[in-house]
Amino acid sequence: MDDTNNLLHQPVMVEEVLDYLRPKAGHIILDGTVGNGGHAGRIMTKIGPDGFLIGIDRDMEILQMAKHYLSKIGCPFKLYHADYSDVDEVLRQAGVRKVHGVLLDLGASSLQFDRADRGFSFSKEGPLDMRMDRSQGGTAQELIRRFSVKELEELFRRYGEERWSARIARAIRREADAGGIASTRQLADLIERVIPKGKSKIHPATRVFQALRIAVNRELESLEGFLDRIHTYMETGARVVVISFHSLEDRIVKNVFAERANQKIFTILTKKPVTPGEVERQRNIRCRSAKLRSAERI
Ligand SMILES: C[S@@+](CC[C@H](N)C(=O)[O-])C[C@H]1O[C@@H](n2cnc3c(N)ncnc32)[C@H](O)[C@@H]1O
Repeated sequence: MDDTNNLLHQPVMVEEVLDYLRPKAGHIILDGTVGNGGHAGRIMTKIGPDGFLIGIDRDMEILQMAKHYLSKIGCPFKLYHADYSDVDEVLRQAGVRKVHGVLLDLGASSLQFDRADRGFSFSKEGPLDMRMDRSQGGTAQELIRRFSVKELEELFRRYGEERWSARIARAIRREADAGGIASTRQLADLIERVIPKGKSKIHPATRVFQALRIAVNRELESLEGFLDRIHTYMETGARVVVISFHSLEDRIVKNVFAERANQKIFTILTKKPVTPGEVERQRNIRCRSAKLRSAERI
């Protein structure tokens, strides 16, 4: 079955995920970023009625959509509203000690980017929110209000690799102190005004928005926490697949896999990251920065 074309978030590199994960009838698979279930659905058709899929997502609204979609497939599954770095607690609740495959498809979903009220997109007017889990506090607006110029500068440099981080940080602090920065467009316009117009094809606010999103959701901490111990839950021969969308994430995945390979815990299956093919790149603009890495538990 492949009705993923109808999904609001188009899953990325689905065939590559299935090739590396090799889900088989009866397998238990952990999808740490289940989203609206595009990858999970395809995996479930492979593991079938004797398999079991454990899906995690921090976004309650998206999880409801996944539940609706995945219920039609005919494979047992359980969904958890959690951070994937809480994997110990999720597996304990699921009554599962070891899995045959693990998937992480990082970053935000189109369902989050496309909704103006979620505040992820600089091209849509909305509140500066950016939380994937809206049941937790700490929006992007609150972060901006709290951070000093130095902290903002450091944030944009580290998480956005933004060369104009100092200039942007000063301008944001000034505007935030004068009357506050409440909306995505207000922030995007401010950045556009203060940095020189370059020849770059990406919007000038891209890097700052990325940095804020990473910080608000503590994305790198979650990834490190998860990768730190996921091997302890993998059966011998189980595979882990991680799709990342920027170099900070990819570097973490690459380094942890290399460390586990040195410890003779993992065999690395992707010497270089796998990227989407031309057909997919044409069809889905959001897949273009995707990088897939995979490893097998020894
Ligand atoms: C790129 S989407 C995944 C799409 C999914 N593979 C699909 O086919 O629909 C990433 C999802 O991961 C979730 N997410 C991001 N970081 C998370 C975390 N630390 N813990 C749990 N879910 C997370 C987001 O809420 C989002 O729904």
